[in-house]
Order: sequence, then C-alpha cells, then structure tokens
Amino acid sequence: MRAFHGRKADKAESSVAARQVVGRVLGIETSCDETGVAVYDADRGLLAHRLYSQIALHESFGGVVPELASRDHIRKLSPLVKEVLAAADSSPEDIDAVAYTQGPGLVGALMVGACFGRALAYGWGVPALGVHHMEGHLLAPMLETDRPEFPFIALLVSGGHTQLVRVDGVGQYKMLGESLDDAAGEAFDKAAKMLELGYPGGPKLAALAAQGRRDRFDFPRPMVNRPGLDFSFSGLKTYPLNTVAACREAGELSDQDKADIAAAFQDAVVSTLVIKCRRALQQEGLTRLVIAGGVSANTQLREALAAEMQKLRGRVYYPRPEFCTDNGAMIAYAGFCRLRAGIQDDLGIRVRPRWPMTELEGVA
Ligand code: KG4
Ligand code: ZN
Repeated sequence: MRAFHGRKADKAESSVAARQVVGRVLGIETSCDETGVAVYDADRGLLAHRLYSQIALHESFGGVVPELASRDHIRKLSPLVKEVLAAADSSPEDIDAVAYTQGPGLVGALMVGACFGRALAYGWGVPALGVHHMEGHLLAPMLETDRPEFPFIALLVSGGHTQLVRVDGVGQYKMLGESLDDAAGEAFDKAAKMLELGYPGGPKLAALAAQGRRDRFDFPRPMVNRPGLDFSFSGLKTYPLNTVAACREAGELSDQDKADIAAAFQDAVVSTLVIKCRRALQQEGLTRLVIAGGVSANTQLREALAAEMQKLRGRVYYPRPEFCTDNGAMIAYAGFCRLRAGIQDDLGIRVRPRWPMTELEGVA
C-alpha cells in the first residue's frame, strides 16, 4: 500500500487503519447503462442514493451503445455525487472510503467509474475499492430491514448472468450452477425484440405478458429433465421466433398473439428458474433463498417463488424493486463490507470486464 497524500492520509495509510475508520462509504455504479451513486453509513444504513438511467439515450438504437454509455457516465457522475452528498447531509470530509464497480461490465463504462472513484478517493485521502457488480446484486437484500442470515442460496438473474450460488458469508461463494449460454435477462431482451417491444425488453415483455394467456402456447423448460443446476436459455428463443412466424403466416401478428407469446415465454423462464431454485435448496439442505439482479423485479417470478417457498417451508428475500436493477446502493454496501474488513486497492486503476465471482476473497 503506497502512501496517500490528502487530508485523511492517516486513514488511508494501512489496511489496519482502514479497519478502524471506515464508517461511511460512497458507492459508484457505472457497469452498463445506469449511473448510480449512494452513501452507506455503518450505523445509520443507506443515507442517500440517486440513479440516472440511460434508457432514453439508447432507446432508438434498440440496445446499449457502449461508447455512448461511457460518455454519459462521464457527464452524469459529478452532478450525481454532489446531489447524493447533499441528500446524505455529508461533505467529502465525512466520507471514509469510495467503492466503485470494477467489473464485470462494459469496459469503457467501468473505466469511467473506476477513474472517477479512484480520483475522488485520492483527492479526499481515503481508501478505495473496486467492487464486483454481481456481489453487489447478491448483497442488495442486506439493505432491507428484513435481511437474510447466512447461509442461503442466491439466484442471480441479470442481463449478463444467471447463477445459483451457495452463500456462507461475504465472499464465501460456491457456484452451484449457471447459464451455459444466454442469461435469463438476455433471453427476455431477445424475445422482446422478436415481439418488437423495444429496449429495455425485460420489463416491457413482462408488462405485455400480464395481458396474455399462459396456456395458449406451450414452450419448453430447458434442462429441467437433466440433473444439475446449470441453465440454458439460448434455444428457448426459437419458440417465440417460430410462433411469431406462424402467426404472421396465418394472417397477422395481433396484439393478443404477442401478449400470449410473451406470457408463454415468461412462464417457461420463470418455471425453469423456480425448478432449479428448489433443486439447489434441497441439494444444500437450506431454506433461505435470495433473488437479485434485474430479472428479480419480475412479478411472476416473485409470486411463483413465494408459492414454492411456502411449500418448502422456507423464505425468499428480495431487494426492494429499485435495488433489483443496477444501482449505487448495492455497490456502496458491498464496498462497505469489504472496506470495513480492511480490504482496499492500491492506487492503480483497473477494471475487469470479465470477472468470476468465485475469485473473490472471503471476508471474515
Ligand atoms: O441487473 P441488471 O439491471 O443489469 C445487469 O447487471 O445486467 O439487469 C438487467 C436485466 C435486463 O436484461 C432486463 O431486461 C431485465 O434485467 N429485467 C427484467 C425485468 N426488469 C429488468 N426481466 C424480466 N422482468 C422484469 N420485470
Ligand atoms: Zn446488474
């Protein structure tokens, strides 16, 4: 650890010092198309958070344009940090450490958050830490008052990941299963594109599915008849694709057809996720389940898991809806857990667009 030259150089000098002083953390999230900033306090919990979504920026392109995402993060970070500090009734002197998303994600977008976060920490003379985005998602339910105790099973379902993880503590992760191809969120987004719903596809498909009938089309539940906890959602998209084509061939693709296809598709994804969650809980002999990541905002998934957990006499925990998708609060909290334990980075600025979560070190 090299020396810091700032007001709080004494705080940042060593990890031992950091262990004693980290009470309030500024968190920065810029891994994809959302700029999130938050302040988490050891005693008072989450003090403030702000999120700026780039949906309007990317909408006309039908998906995230990485270069535009990076530029927009640059534009929004500084005003958001000022806004969050004011909302948290904090000045830079009150911040003990900075946490930023180091990966996985879009390399340019990550670089913006890493450079900004690292520079802020240097200027303020406090430690900084690059946080794993999926660990942020995984720990997001800890921001709620009704939080799960360890150990639990976590289902992480986002645009880039579908993972079942046994969680014995912060950083103590055993990967039980994951998607061999498309992530659940990615599958939602691709099916939404086939139905011409635009970006972001997942929430739009879910809204349309609520108007549809689940039983008109029968889509398969991939890999449920094989043992194990891996997923495969890539082949499933053939079904909405072929059904859209069949409807068009038979005349036209009506709004009701679209809604019924959306409902059948969502039903297939949700059932698959529920079956694998049940299997993971039974395999590990656990009764607590955490669902996090963008797809955990899906109402049908929440309802299906609640019903399943009742049968299993277990409990399911979620982040509040705004912390299911990307946000700064989860990064502030995950960073806090590690910084408080004395873990911090050197002054180098590094990002990891691909970063297996199992490489993280455990926190005592
Ligand atoms: O966690 P997240 O915000 O970003 C990543 O880390 O990827 O997840 C975004 C993903 C997208 O694929 C989006 O379509 C999906 O989560 N998503 C949903 C819903 N809300 C977001 N999928 C299904 N139903 C939803 N309500
Ligand atoms: Zn995410």
